[in-house]
This record gives sequence, structure tokens and C-alpha cells, in this order.
Amino acid sequence: MAVLRYRAPGSPLETEVTANLVDSILTSLLKAGRPIRHDCGGKALCGTCRVRVLEGAAALSPISDRERSRLSAVGAAPDERLACQAHAARDAKIEAVLPLEGPGPETKGVTG
Ligand code: FES
Repeated sequence: MAVLRYRAPGSPLETEVTANLVDSILTSLLKAGRPIRHDCGGKALCGTCRVRVLEGAAALSPISDRERSRLSAVGAAPDERLACQAHAARDAKIEAVLPLEGPGPETKGVTG
């Protein structure tokens, strides 16, 4: 069991969400009723679920090739992860990168 301290899009407030290695961070956030954009439904196709890892990067699961490819395609910063692909083994502090609505990230020629 891990505790994610999460700041939702546009919110200065931090809330705590219980996470585990079975559920993705996205699933943990949604189960807890926390807002986060996820246009493709968690398939690593859109990049809209990006979170910035403020503390505890080593507490998250390793980045898969699929996640790395999508992060690269959307021009993500080095401290960003896909909430739909990352899992938390230990406590971490994260914040959503994109607002809940608006245009999605531009992609750079990566499909599927
Ligand atoms: S929800 Fe689309 S990449 Fe995570």
C-alpha cells in the first residue's frame, strides 16, 4: 500500500489517495474520485493523463517502452509519467499536468 499526495488540475490543494502496485495511478485516482484527464481511457494513446512527479520518483514502477514512447511523442518533461501506465509501490507526490478540458497534447508521429 502506498499513499499518493495528489494535486488535481487547477487546484492548489493536495489530497491523499491510497495506491498499490496492482492498480495504475490513474485507476487509483479515479477509484478515489479524484479528477484527472484520461482521453484514451488508459491505453497509453493520448498522453493526457500525464502527472508531474514532485517526490518519490523511485517509488513508481519502471517506465515501459510503451509509456516512454508516448511520453516522447507528447514532449513530456523528464519528471512526468503517464498515470495510466505507472504504478506506485511506495509513497509519492504528484500533480496533474493538463487541465481537465481543452486541447490535448500535440503528438510527434507515434501511433497506437
Ligand atoms: S489515459 Fe491516455 S495515455 Fe493515459
